Amino acid sequence: MMRMTRDAFLYIASLMRYLVVVYKESAENCDRLKMLHAFSGSIKLIDAIYLAKLLRREKPKDILEVGSFLGFSCNWLLTVSSPWNARVVAVDPNIAHRGFSNPRHILRKVNDVFSDRLTIVTAYFGTPPAGERENAKVIDSGWSEKFDVVFVDGNHSYESVINNFQVGSTLLRPNGVIAFHDAISWPEVSRAIEDIKQQSTDFDVVIQGRHAKRLCEGVALLKRTQQYNR
Ligand SMILES: C[S@@+](CC[C@H](N)C(=O)[O-])C[C@H]1O[C@@H](n2cnc3c(N)ncnc32)[C@H](O)[C@@H]1O
Repeated sequence: MMRMTRDAFLYIASLMRYLVVVYKESAENCDRLKMLHAFSGSIKLIDAIYLAKLLRREKPKDILEVGSFLGFSCNWLLTVSSPWNARVVAVDPNIAHRGFSNPRHILRKVNDVFSDRLTIVTAYFGTPPAGERENAKVIDSGWSEKFDVVFVDGNHSYESVINNFQVGSTLLRPNGVIAFHDAISWPEVSRAIEDIKQQSTDFDVVIQGRHAKRLCEGVALLKRTQQYNR
């Protein structure tokens, strides 16, 4: 309970700092709608607490984030893992999203204190959307890096979630965990996770949370069966 309360305060402090940076960095054309997008496009309190719990339990050395947007969840992963200095690789194609034409600029500012532990990769993780396939830089299963935790919050279509699971699971170290955000609130994400749960006998799937607007969107944790300790 104490830990949860501390994490709630840590989350609120991080969120305030993040929103101030978003406001300052997009000051010329910053309106209420944009600030609302910056908030609603980022992980919510209860999901952040689940992620913090996961990180403290697994103590990952290397974390991969798929879908970083303006850098709030990335900042959360870096903040929580500060005691053991985890490295975070943040993958995002930096496409215009929720009214922000260059989210990468804000992501850098939000995370500048962590620049020694953060690597930013501008690419699609897995299969890019049809119109982008010719020119887009892509991260797929051939990537040489391996990770202890992969956090996916990218494209929320059914096909992308299945594809991100297929690619992400090949990049996991043996005891690694792959986590999906919006596992409850987004019907396509939730359907994909349910299908993975039914079809993949190699992975145990635990879904945390329940949909509570502005507080929780659900986090699915997938870990290879034989090593999973609930
Ligand atoms: C919901 S936002 C991420 C929010 C962020 N995780 C947070 O909580 O602060 C989704 C992001 O996924 C990115 N995205 C979409 N398709 C992607 C892909 N195939 N690989 C990586 N990122 C992707 C978008 O550019 C967008 O920035």
